[in-house]
Amino acid sequence: MLKVIHLQTEYRNNPMGLDTKAPRLGWMLISNRENIMQQAYQVQASANESFKDVLWDGGKVESQQSQQVLYGGPELKSMERIYWRVKVWSNHEESEFSQPAFFETGLFETSDWKAKWIEPEGDIDLDAYKPAPYIRKEFSVKKGLVSARAYMTSRGLYHFYINGTEGTDHLFNPGFTSYYKRLQYQVYDITKLLQEGNNALGVILGDGWWRGNVGIGNLKNNFGYKVAFLGQLVLSYDDGSKEIIGSNSTFKTSYGPIQKSDLKAGEVYDARINISGWNSPGFDDSSWKNVNVTDDGFDYLIATRSVPVKRKERFIPEILNTPNGETVLDFGQNIAGWVEMKVQGATGTEIVLIHGETLDKNRNFTMGNFSLHGSIEDFQEVHYIIEGNGLETYHPHFAIFGFRYVLLKNYPGEVKPENFTAMAIYSDMEETGEFVCSNPMINQLVSNSKWSMKGNFLEIPTDCPTRERAGWTGDAQVFSKTASNFMNVYPFFEKWMADVAVEQFATGSVGSTVPNVLGYHNHVEGNRILNLSKDPMLNMLGKPGEPLLLDGSTGWGDVATILPWTMYLSYGDKTILENQFDSAKAWVDYLAACAKKHNEYYKETAAYHTYTDGELEANYIVDTGFHWGEWLEPDTNMNELGANITEFMSRQMTVSEPLVATAYYAYSARLLSEMAAVLGKQEEKDKYESLYNKIKRVYNNHFIKDDGTILEGRQAPYVRTLAFNLADDDKKYTIVNKLVEIIKNNDYHLNTGFLSTPFLLHMLADYGHEDIAFRVLEQDTSPSWLYAVTKGATTIWESWSDYGHDGKMTGSFNHYSYGAVCDFLFAGIAGIRPVMEKPGYKHFLLKPLQGGALTHASAKFESLYGTIESSWEQTNQGINYHFVVPANTTATIMLPGNQDDIAKLGKEFMDARCEDGRIAFDVGSGKYNLTIQSSESIKAIVE
Ligand code: BGC
Repeated sequence: MLKVIHLQTEYRNNPMGLDTKAPRLGWMLISNRENIMQQAYQVQASANESFKDVLWDGGKVESQQSQQVLYGGPELKSMERIYWRVKVWSNHEESEFSQPAFFETGLFETSDWKAKWIEPEGDIDLDAYKPAPYIRKEFSVKKGLVSARAYMTSRGLYHFYINGTEGTDHLFNPGFTSYYKRLQYQVYDITKLLQEGNNALGVILGDGWWRGNVGIGNLKNNFGYKVAFLGQLVLSYDDGSKEIIGSNSTFKTSYGPIQKSDLKAGEVYDARINISGWNSPGFDDSSWKNVNVTDDGFDYLIATRSVPVKRKERFIPEILNTPNGETVLDFGQNIAGWVEMKVQGATGTEIVLIHGETLDKNRNFTMGNFSLHGSIEDFQEVHYIIEGNGLETYHPHFAIFGFRYVLLKNYPGEVKPENFTAMAIYSDMEETGEFVCSNPMINQLVSNSKWSMKGNFLEIPTDCPTRERAGWTGDAQVFSKTASNFMNVYPFFEKWMADVAVEQFATGSVGSTVPNVLGYHNHVEGNRILNLSKDPMLNMLGKPGEPLLLDGSTGWGDVATILPWTMYLSYGDKTILENQFDSAKAWVDYLAACAKKHNEYYKETAAYHTYTDGELEANYIVDTGFHWGEWLEPDTNMNELGANITEFMSRQMTVSEPLVATAYYAYSARLLSEMAAVLGKQEEKDKYESLYNKIKRVYNNHFIKDDGTILEGRQAPYVRTLAFNLADDDKKYTIVNKLVEIIKNNDYHLNTGFLSTPFLLHMLADYGHEDIAFRVLEQDTSPSWLYAVTKGATTIWESWSDYGHDGKMTGSFNHYSYGAVCDFLFAGIAGIRPVMEKPGYKHFLLKPLQGGALTHASAKFESLYGTIESSWEQTNQGINYHFVVPANTTATIMLPGNQDDIAKLGKEFMDARCEDGRIAFDVGSGKYNLTIQSSESIKAIVE
């Protein structure tokens, strides 16, 4: 039977508040038959779930498309709910109409906002932490309420309550965007929370990313000085009338128990300040003040695009009494989140919870690994002051911490595990990928990588959930493909990439962090701090509003081309290419301008004296500007770098690492030309393709020696050259051989850094050195992926080692970048690979790899079309393969074997052929079990 399931609008289940007029619809087909391909679909829309009146019937559309189908009904209006359903025809049978899904529109016009921005605070101390303002408003609901919606946003973060009940389980709203240009509002269905008669709305505002500590420099007031709220409740009655309660001067404000609430520093909560009942009707607010109304506008407001942030996994601790006599809670897993605590004790007792990622060599609690670039006072601390009236339950409101361990001070009575629950908190993306194999250490590596993703995908992709929590562009691009294996990250990245474009500088330079947390959006504050500060770091950051010294680095700025392209490949959605094309082009043009600038430092080199077709070759080499370079190759010591960061940066400015920068220039030019091809922009396709070819020629002339040497002893340049296809064909194999030689000389250890690590194993395997790839993967002494696993890591570390040369702990313990190796597990070992001709796994490869000491491996990947499976197992009979291809897709299975084996496959695989040294054959949807008996025979069983 053919069924249509998993209806999504804009990649979400029944989203509330869209402000696009043509939402993208998607669905999945399931069937118990094989070879199912959709031939046609019919979408219907209605204002009601029963489809009594059909608003729009798109009719039967001949098409295999089941994702990114645009809604084509009557023009959408603000605040509308549309139900839609779909029926499909396949090559075998036709389905019934699906169960309906719905979406609701937000506010298309600024005139839809009847509320006013309100500010609860009066005069404030710009430099101090401030208590969280509480806001309340009572209103009455008449008889005959049919539905009620809340439209809300804030400067800072908000929590809201209706009649004492929390209005949503979504956290950290309104999310994090480039607030001056794009501030999100959310839409909630509050019908069930209201009652006839008196009701109350309560709101608490937190500092959040608006004015709290952000980034490596712990900048405060980055967007503004004061928090503010904007919200309107729209009540619809059965007589067709509507009532709007909008924030205005009648809203009252006061302070409550939250004395301080900072994302990084933490929270101070004085439970003795009891304002119970403040968010319910009937509370006496005569002592509360009136809020101030501001005349701020609405034109930069957008409906939320965020994947909502939610509480996810929970952990109960083991209680440790550490050698130095402290009480430490060990939650067993390094996460980003908070602890919910139960306590009973004497009024005024101040309990302290300090959140850290690791124990030190003596097994005592430490925050030592955060010290790299300075830190803030009271970092990741919660102070809870007991009210003293029985059992109290508490968790922070607007703070979040990266931790596995919590140092607990001053907790009254016995410390029992059940009184502490750690909650992981992150953007609630759908989990899509699982990988398991016979090596438990590799399975732990997969878990660590997934946990580092969970710890760093909160609203924006961050480097770490502790020290910086910044949207470092390089980290995100490096991890993006692996991220798309683990979870559906398309909507998450579509939203964040819009901010990358919005914050791009007029020159085309792309920031190192997005939204920028290295320099001030709030220029008044930027200038105030620059005038006050003697900190050389701050002065290096530059003037507010101008590109900073650290911006425009290759490998980081290339997020503009790499990330949209990776998303297109994984989800097949052209929207991200359309949205980002101008930004990607501006980035490549910026690099072209950098290349045209000449660097004194290199003026004696051949490139400055060689002309080809009348053009100076140096004009195609990026040797100006600041570049992080390969970054954190294992023999670079983090702590030493931390101490010499100023020196490091000025060296990078002078030397400008042309080897890395020029490779990225070529790569981005090529990706841009491919983007142009998909979008039908022929002129740009040709222009950037020819640019790529020129850069490649110059790269071969000046960076690769005749014997294939690029840089003695380093693996990264060889890997990068191969991955970006920069070497002339006749040089490729000497380059591969050099790479293998360096790895062997390094006793099968990698020495790649941030940028090239994700490609290392792929390149070894693609160029016929699977054996070396497996050996490097299974290596467990440092530097290697499994070293951290042997040390009990539960997330990916920033550095390849736990202790630096000076014996101090190195860096963050939750940096996903090196976890990018997991793409090799999915796309290499399990061999599930999207293909460019039919992106988004509409057609894909199943090209598994056996090797090393592994005896089995299996992966499951939930594509937009359904579950793909690929597994293999070594048995006495040979290798058993198992594959699942979802309905409405096709795959090419590629297995070890040669021409002779083809005949043994049987007539089901008539089209089998030899490709890339393997047997290849195309299949439709279904389950496939195949056995290869070490080249003697091959047996295929199709379920
Ligand atoms: C961050 C990185 C980032 C880097 C820039 C570090 O401090 O944590 O992950 O990409 O700076 O090189």
